[in-house]
Amino acid sequence: MRGRRWLWALIGTVGIGVVLYAVGRRQVTVPIRPPQPTPGLAVRVALADRCATCHHRTTPTIVEQWSRSMHAAQNVRCSDCHEVRAGYPTAKEHFGTFVSALVTPATCAKCHVIEARQYWHSRHSLPAWTALVGYEALPEPLKAQFNEIEEVRRAPEGGELPTGFVGAVRNALYDIEGPAVTKLACEGCHQIGKPNPDGSAGNCNMCHLRHEFSLEQVRKPETCNRCHIGPDHPQWEIYEESSHGILYHTRGHEWNWSQRPGRLTVQDFPAPTCQVCHMSGLGPQPTTHDVGDRLSYFLFAEVSTHRPNWRENRERMMQVCMQCHSRPFVEEEYRKADAVTEAVNAWVQEAKAILEDLARDGLISAKPFEQPIQFVAFDLWHHYGRTAKFGAYMQGPDYVQWHGVYPLLNKLAELRHMAGELRASNRPNGR
Ligand code: HEC
Ligand code: HEC
Ligand code: HEC
Ligand code: HEC
Ligand code: HEC
Ligand code: HEC
Ligand code: HEC
Ligand code: HEC
Repeated sequence: MRGRRWLWALIGTVGIGVVLYAVGRRQVTVPIRPPQPTPGLAVRVALADRCATCHHRTTPTIVEQWSRSMHAAQNVRCSDCHEVRAGYPTAKEHFGTFVSALVTPATCAKCHVIEARQYWHSRHSLPAWTALVGYEALPEPLKAQFNEIEEVRRAPEGGELPTGFVGAVRNALYDIEGPAVTKLACEGCHQIGKPNPDGSAGNCNMCHLRHEFSLEQVRKPETCNRCHIGPDHPQWEIYEESSHGILYHTRGHEWNWSQRPGRLTVQDFPAPTCQVCHMSGLGPQPTTHDVGDRLSYFLFAEVSTHRPNWRENRERMMQVCMQCHSRPFVEEEYRKADAVTEAVNAWVQEAKAILEDLARDGLISAKPFEQPIQFVAFDLWHHYGRTAKFGAYMQGPDYVQWHGVYPLLNKLAELRHMAGELRASNRPNGR
């Protein structure tokens, strides 16, 4: 018996060794394939409804993109976004049902109510549109929605206003240039807040490009440079020259772009993108689709004043910075940037006074954008004043200096000179 046991033990040991060897070999020789928790395209098209099956032939790229999305993985189908009732304003009869090519935030809100509500409470929605057409042009129900937005309910000075909200005055340049131009200019960007035929406003698709609705795409700063670029709001250019932007450009390929929303840490993003500072959940800050939530000034304004609740907003932004920096460091950055804002405000106010005096004395046109001096005064705050302020808060020294304060001072000198000439040439008998 004893001998047999030894034999069994020997056979067992050798057997286990062989199995382990085989497993070991298999691990070495068989390539490890990435996990595939979701079925491939063909399977998914077959599983999905007839929309995807037919569109796989007619618009294969759309089906391909959709099939890679979280939506496909979660069984959100073409019809969930496109199928509408017969009376829907943009409905088209389509193979026994009705579809709409336009998918508005009202449709997204069926499933993403929080994101949609935050977006509607931000300046990305209606205020971006009233910046062109003015408050009075809004349909009545949308006026009520507009008035809910905290950043527009009050004048920049802080007092409640019945009318004349921030950025809700019909824009003169918009009318002067006319629809032939503005459809492809102003509206190309400001449509992010355009009213839709179904009574909703804006378009999630401005940032979430269809049909992948990819987190990686929407978290990359290029998403914002579709609009936040150019001489009057060079946030993209500023970001590119900041340490944050340099890290993004040099190391961004190693970052974890697909981390689940709300779970982002500095392990995933060792340096911030636009989104991390303004939108993403990081540390104690939850994700927000209200891009005004973390801002303390109306920097885009001619003369910048604090926003309502600016202290709380600033604290929220600082909480983001403090995931990576110390509080004293961040406070010092704000102190320096606030000083730039005050200096720019003073110069802009001086320029404003020059123009107001000329207007009062009837020496310039009552209409905007008619005389060269009006363009100089506009460039001064709209391009250079803004740029210096943006550069100060987003670490772009070249934009504070050579694209900001220096040309601002240049324009101020030009303005003083032009005002002097206007007064001289308007003296009776040329005296
Ligand atoms: C039998 C094939 C077929 C089926 C089924 C089908 N589609 Fe289409 N769909 C097409 C074709 C072809 C077009 C392009 C029509 C055109 O160019 O005028 C189209 C166009 C569309 C458009 C764009 C309409 C526009 O105004 O630009 C949408 C949105 C759409 N389909 C969604 C759907 C949805 C949602 C379903 C399922 C409820 C569906 N389709 C079912 C073939 C199909
Ligand atoms: C999560 C919502 C969503 C889903 C799911 C979805 N779409 Fe779309 N689709 C959109 C949005 C948003 C647009 C752009 C609407 C706009 O602003 O004009 C669009 C546009 C379109 C268009 C018209 C524009 C173009 O590029 O031709 C077609 C056709 C279309 N989708 C087909 C499909 C098909 C087919 C499926 C399923 C495979 C699908 N969509 C799934 C949201 C969706
Ligand atoms: C029928 C419901 C439904 C509709 C309509 C819908 N979604 Fe979604 N969406 C989902 C579900 C479910 C998920 C996955 C949720 C999750 O992972 O937490 C999702 C996830 C997302 C994500 C995150 C993607 C990721 O990789 O985690 C984005 C972005 C998104 N949706 C945007 C949109 C936009 C924009 C629209 C409108 C054009 C829209 N959705 C319409 C149900 C919907
Ligand atoms: C390249 C995209 C783009 C184009 C084109 C564009 N804007 Fe803007 N506009 C923006 C962005 C981005 C801001 C936000 C700047 C900020 O908040 O710092 C803005 C801000 C504004 C503001 C200040 C905000 C407000 O609500 O008062 C006004 C007014 C404005 N734009 C009007 C116009 C007009 C009029 C045109 C065309 C003559 C135009 N914009 C063309 C992107 C654009
Ligand atoms: C200004 C650009 C922008 C617009 C406009 C926008 N989003 Fe987003 N969205 C983002 C960014 C950035 C994220 C990723 C946040 C993060 O890092 O977790 C995101 C994330 C999401 C997610 C994933 C879950 C979450 O909350 O993080 C959903 C769902 C979503 N957006 C839906 C919408 C809907 C619906 C709309 C329109 C009502 C919309 N978004 C408009 C930029 C935008
Ligand atoms: C399609 C154009 C467009 C895109 C894309 C876009 N924005 Fe904007 N953004 C605007 C316009 C227009 C305004 C000015 C709205 C106003 O005040 O009238 C604005 C304003 C802002 C503001 C100031 C809000 C306030 O309360 O004054 C912030 C911050 C901002 N955007 C951040 C972002 C970020 C971050 C992204 C990318 C994730 C982004 N935007 C993408 C057009 C855009
Ligand atoms: C390191 C964080 C950080 C990054 C990265 C960042 N911003 Fe900002 N941004 C700020 C701060 C801080 C302010 C000033 C906030 C205030 O008013 O207190 C600001 C201001 C703005 C404003 C001005 C809003 C107004 O009042 O006119 C816009 C628009 C904006 N950022 C967009 C962007 C875009 C687009 C990017 C990426 C290209 C970006 N930001 C990158 C922190 C950041
Ligand atoms: C996710 C992490 C992260 C966040 C959030 C963040 N930063 Fe940074 N920041 C960095 C890193 C990393 C650097 C590069 C450090 C270096 O230059 O050696 C940097 C550099 C800087 C610098 C340049 C420092 C120097 O010594 O040249 C300033 C100023 C700065 N950040 C301010 C801010 C402010 C203000 C905020 C919030 C509005 C912020 N940062 C948010 C990671 C972050």
